[in-house]
Amino acid sequence: MYTGLQHAHSYLAYLVLLGVAISLITALAGLFGGGTFTDKNRKLGLLGLIPTHLQWVIGLILYFVSPLGLSNASGAAMKDATSRLYFLEHPLMMVLAVILITIGYSKAKRQVGTNRGFKTIAIFYGLGLILILSRIPWNAWPGN
Ligand code: HEM
Repeated sequence: MYTGLQHAHSYLAYLVLLGVAISLITALAGLFGGGTFTDKNRKLGLLGLIPTHLQWVIGLILYFVSPLGLSNASGAAMKDATSRLYFLEHPLMMVLAVILITIGYSKAKRQVGTNRGFKTIAIFYGLGLILILSRIPWNAWPGN
C-alpha cells in the first residue's frame, strides 16, 4: 500500500500544480480584464480545488504509513533539514495551503454574479500556491 500511495501522491502533485495554476491564471485574467465572475469561472476554481483535496487525503494517509512521516518525528530528526521537511514543514505548509484554497473557493462561490470572485481566487489560490511551492521536496521530486 505504501508504494502505491507514494506513486499516487507523486503523480497527483503535477495535477495540483497544474490545476491551481490554471485557476490562478484565469482569475488574474478576469481580474485585470474586468467583467463578472460567472459560474464558469467558479468551475475553473474547481480545477485547483479538487486535485488539492485529493492530494491532502492521500498525504494524510502517507503521513501515517511512510517511514518519513510521523514515525520519523523526533528531536534528532528536528535537527536534520530533510527529515524536518518531511515530518513537519511539508505536511504543515500543505495543510495551510489546502485551507487557504478551500476558503478562497468557498468565498468566491458566493461571489458569482459580482466582480469580486476573481480577486478572491487570485489572493487565496496565489498564497496557497506560494506555500505549496515553498515546501515541495524538490530534491526528490519530480525525480530523475
Ligand atoms: C497540496 C498538497 C500536497 C502536495 C502538492 C504534495 C506534494 C508532495 C511531493 C511532490 C512529494 C514527493 C514525492 C516523491 O518523492 O516523488 C511529497 C511527499 C510526501 N508528502 Fe506531500 N504533498 C501535499 C500534501 C501533503 C500532506 C497534507 C501531507 C501530510 C499530512 C503530506 C505528506 C507527505 C509525506 C509523508 C511525503 C513523503 C512520502 C514518502 O516518500 O515516503 N503531503 N508530497
